Amino acid sequence: MKSDYLIVSCSLNPDSNSRKMARAAFDLLNEKGGAEWLDLRDYELPICDGGAAYSHSNVEIVAQKIRDAKCVLMAVPIYNFDVNAAAKNLIELTGRAWTEKVVGFLCAAGGKSSYMSVMGVANSLMLDFRSLIIPRFVYADGSSFDNESVSDALVKTRIEELVDTAITLTEPARQAKRANPA
Ligand SMILES: Cc1cc2nc3c(=O)[nH]c(=O)nc-3n(C[C@H](O)[C@H](O)[C@H](O)COP(=O)(O)O)c2cc1C
Repeated sequence: MKSDYLIVSCSLNPDSNSRKMARAAFDLLNEKGGAEWLDLRDYELPICDGGAAYSHSNVEIVAQKIRDAKCVLMAVPIYNFDVNAAAKNLIELTGRAWTEKVVGFLCAAGGKSSYMSVMGVANSLMLDFRSLIIPRFVYADGSSFDNESVSDALVKTRIEELVDTAITLTEPARQAKRANPA
């Protein structure tokens, strides 16, 4: 059975740190009942042009994964004080698929100063699609990782807190759906 939780790893870098956080959140969610996984490296997507790009076959695949979820946790690289272009492009391409999702962020950055960088995209999801933004972001710079995984204890705790809050906020929607499947 499909899970209501989707982790989206948005970095296209093979040595990505945000993907390490995505894996940690994915593992935690699997311990607690299950999660789906979407790595943007696995789906070549066109740049959104507001037109023909929407017809690309991979766009429908990733849009359906988002539609199927009730909660989406986005693991994003911070580029130029914003989420990376691949993350923003995904949102541009999939638009209404985000409607009323619970959405959380795990951000990997190079330094400590870009911690508000996700706000632009969080605001747009909230205002465009009534996404419920989890007010508990994970933000980590390069010192929080080893080659394989998240090494910093505080970042690990913050990932656990994000996952627990995601479940707390998503569970009522799951129960409402179960009570009223139509
Ligand atoms: C084009 C580019 C822009 C970046 N801009 C920022 C930035 O504004 N603030 C910051 O703290 N780090 C910045 N960085 C560093 C990345 O956030 C850092 O390398 C991070 O690990 C990227 O995530 P990833 O490892 O998951 O790909 C930038 C890196 C690149 C390649």
